[in-house]
Amino acid sequence: MDIIGILRKRTHLLKFEYDFLRGEFNKLKRLIVGITGASAGIYGVRLLEVLTKHEDIEVHLTISSSGARALLEELQIKVDLDNFELESLIGISSPRVIYHHESDIAAPIASGSFRTAGMIVAPCSMGSVASIAGGMSRNLIQRAADVCIKENRKLVLVPRETPLSSIHLENMLKLSRMGVCVLPAMPGFYHYPKNVDDLLNFIVTKILDQFGIDTKLIQRWKE
Ligand SMILES: Cc1cc2nc3c(=O)[nH]c(=O)nc-3n(C[C@H](O)[C@H](O)[C@H](O)COP(=O)(O)O)c2cc1C
Repeated sequence: MDIIGILRKRTHLLKFEYDFLRGEFNKLKRLIVGITGASAGIYGVRLLEVLTKHEDIEVHLTISSSGARALLEELQIKVDLDNFELESLIGISSPRVIYHHESDIAAPIASGSFRTAGMIVAPCSMGSVASIAGGMSRNLIQRAADVCIKENRKLVLVPRETPLSSIHLENMLKLSRMGVCVLPAMPGFYHYPKNVDDLLNFIVTKILDQFGIDTKLIQRWKE
């Protein structure tokens, strides 16, 4: 075979590899998870525990400095944002969780050309709600959320605050009107929860329902 023939064959093979990898990408769901400084960081922790069990999901994780502080105050979980190890947060490591520092505005998730299925911010502070509603992009969580909004990708915010002021409510209404899913950390009680785990699982199920990811964590109503 002459050089042209070899090149033709190689090009064909490369195209096949490219198509194959593209197919693999479509099978893999990339999700962004942000943990901010609202109370109940435990929701973010449970979410990651569940997502790491799904082999077809790649998580891009970022945590705000207030998020790290709240995790320390509430759960005595110490995460080092500069030398992050997933183990410090959920007790195991996973190659499918890719961490980005909140100040790394050059991270892939800061760009709309990096394809993802969307983003979850759990828990979401009122500060982050306000910044996202105002398009501030002051850290990577806010920028990634801004990207999801502009690219019409699913964005699920899990606010945790009570009572809610008019400022909070107006910001959430503004986001809801843009198509953002505002999913407050308000567990139901119709699945007869017996402990805190059951309450966490209820919210995590509701979050992942938004992405068509079934967790089988709770007994669904009349199913
Ligand atoms: C232990 C702890 C609990 C907090 N709980 C809440 C909360 O439930 N909701 C909220 O909006 N802010 C809460 N905050 C305040 C936020 O952390 C603060 O507004 C911060 O600036 C939010 O920044 P971030 O959105 O970038 O993480 C809490 C702070 C601490 C330390």
